[in-house]
Amino acid sequence: MLEALTLREGYFGDPAAFQALADLLQDIFGIDISHQMKLGGPDPTSMPFGYFDPSGRCVANFSAFSMPLVVNGRVVRAAGYQSGAVRPDYRGQGLYRTLMKRAFDWAERGGFEAGILLTDKPGLYEPYGFRTIPQFKFYGAVPQADLPVPRARDLDLKQTADLHMVQMALDTRQPVSETFSVVRQKEMFLLNAHFDPDIRLSLLAEDDAVIAWKPQGQTSLQILDVAARNVPPLGHIVASLGPNFQNAEVFFPPDRLDWKGAARPHQGDCVLMVRGLEPASLTQPFMLSPLADF
Ligand SMILES: CC(C)(COP(=O)(O)OP(=O)(O)OC[C@H]1O[C@@H](n2cnc3c(N)ncnc32)[C@H](O)[C@@H]1OP(=O)(O)O)[C@@H](O)C(=O)NCCC(=O)NCCS
Repeated sequence: MLEALTLREGYFGDPAAFQALADLLQDIFGIDISHQMKLGGPDPTSMPFGYFDPSGRCVANFSAFSMPLVVNGRVVRAAGYQSGAVRPDYRGQGLYRTLMKRAFDWAERGGFEAGILLTDKPGLYEPYGFRTIPQFKFYGAVPQADLPVPRARDLDLKQTADLHMVQMALDTRQPVSETFSVVRQKEMFLLNAHFDPDIRLSLLAEDDAVIAWKPQGQTSLQILDVAARNVPPLGHIVASLGPNFQNAEVFFPPDRLDWKGAARPHQGDCVLMVRGLEPASLTQPFMLSPLADF
């Protein structure tokens, strides 16, 4: 059965092959990445490695892409890994091992100094030097704004003008944290906002800032990400989202927010794994914004 398979890499230029990957991920994870085509397309740095059967069906895949990070104020050239799946009738025969090796070799040849991925099966990646890093979110009272703040406007990614606004904010953004954050990650931000209908995107027009957030009852809110040239202080952001919010939970290190919250462990469905990052550079509590999930 395996002899009939073709190994393809970097195949996103072929729309049928991209759709075959979307079908694989739909069948295995129940997510539809073909929506990316309406949101500006996949990350141009993506390097997918996949096995295809003679009918063009994608039976296994593992993708690498360029995911520059800011870690303790330094830009780190990291490779992200995502879209790992093998169809059930092809498992246990080493397909994934081959795809992982191809992707890791590609990253090594490309000079990436670090690797990062999210998984619910850390044991798969430990043999390749990845280790699990705990993540923390930040909780506390919201400082009150000194002056009245204009109300933010809700954005809708289905409206072309709003989509362009968000794309522009993501293209020109300042990394949301100096402690740990992505440098850009535009495509995943858009897809993650699309996947979770509870995420609100709001524009603070005077700051050119797009806030990804969720209200939690009447008086609390979650701040998930901020795409802005200059990240505004938390008090300013929250006042623009509504007058009654007293407590915030921030899903990224708040070093640019002019605010300190208490770090609390974050339990997600997946753990964050890295390799190639000095343990000494990861001493501050942090989490990767959910809008950067990949
Ligand atoms: C996990 C998955 C990709 C493995 O695919 P596969 O083709 O059966 O894997 P392989 O046969 O190539 O095995 C590769 C290695 O992973 C190990 N492995 C397989 N499944 C594993 C699991 N669930 N946990 C830990 N290790 C696992 C194998 O023992 C093998 O180790 P070895 O190289 O030391 O012999 C496949 O089961 C799958 O698609 N699962 C559902 C989706 C998923 O979990 N994707 C990964 C999310 S990050």
